[in-house]
Amino acid sequence: MDFNGKVALITGAGNGIGRATALAFAARGARLLVVDRDAETAEATAAVIRQQGGEARCHVADVTRSAEVEAYVQAAMEAWGRIDCFFNNAGIEGRLAAIVDMDEAMFDEVQAVNVKGVFLGLRAVLPVMLAQRSGAVVNTASVAGLVGTPGMAAYVASKHAVMGLTKSAAGEVARGGVRVNAVCPGPIETRMMRAIEAQIDPANPASVEQRYHAALPLGRYGTAEEVANVVVFLCSSLAGNITGAQYVIDGGRTSIGGAITTLPKVLS
Ligand SMILES: NC(=O)c1ccc[n+]([C@@H]2O[C@H](COP(=O)([O-])OP(=O)(O)OC[C@H]3O[C@@H](n4cnc5c(N)ncnc54)[C@H](O)[C@@H]3O)[C@@H](O)[C@H]2O)c1
Repeated sequence: MDFNGKVALITGAGNGIGRATALAFAARGARLLVVDRDAETAEATAAVIRQQGGEARCHVADVTRSAEVEAYVQAAMEAWGRIDCFFNNAGIEGRLAAIVDMDEAMFDEVQAVNVKGVFLGLRAVLPVMLAQRSGAVVNTASVAGLVGTPGMAAYVASKHAVMGLTKSAAGEVARGGVRVNAVCPGPIETRMMRAIEAQIDPANPASVEQRYHAALPLGRYGTAEEVANVVVFLCSSLAGNITGAQYVIDGGRTSIGGAITTLPKVLS
């Protein structure tokens, strides 16, 4: 778990899981390129790392735009000369709605960030890792990449697609010394869960949180740091024989089956 001399590139690193993972890599000696579409939060993540004695640069990019994706890879190469770890993580939740009520533009936007963004990242970073003959990628899927959730079809479809990209990419680059895995978080304590709670019950989001907690075997949301621990492990030499795998970090959610998000309007 020693990343001294290694370079980690993380998208969606301005907030939540991406930020916690950037800090986790930096604490273990990695140099970071922090990528986000939000300049202020990206710079804040890089600033925290530098305050703690680490090395980080930030780069503003929208992961849905291929020129901006190529530019963040270029920025990492100009800053640090290599990319050892790539956390392909930026994602959005979209609007909750039954498929029969779903807005087409919202569906497209979720696929653009969560699927195309991950694809463009793989397409741009894998050649660098193949040229090095080493590297590890972790894509952020979700338990929504493994099971359905009524009311979240756009997000669920996008995360199932991330699983497909992960498995296909893993087979394509394995002989080139590059590993590609996915993490599948359940509900994690970040802005995204706050937004989902508020969509399910705008009048009483706290009650939604309580229902989620009650339905999870471990009785609580996971933390961003608990996801970061798994990402760091998957990028480390300890995980040298692991590729094309999915790591579930969900407090036991999928082990007991059944969807948690129950939109009364959707299910009635
Ligand atoms: N929080 C959860 O419960 C949970 C569960 C499973 C999976 N996930 C996934 O984890 C990842 C991170 O989510 P989070 O909970 O940290 O959310 P978050 O909203 O706190 O952080 C997401 C970050 O991605 C950035 N981002 C969004 N769209 C972007 C774009 N087009 N280009 C560049 N950056 C962009 C945002 O600015 C933000 O900083 C997402 O892929 C999400 O789907 C989250």
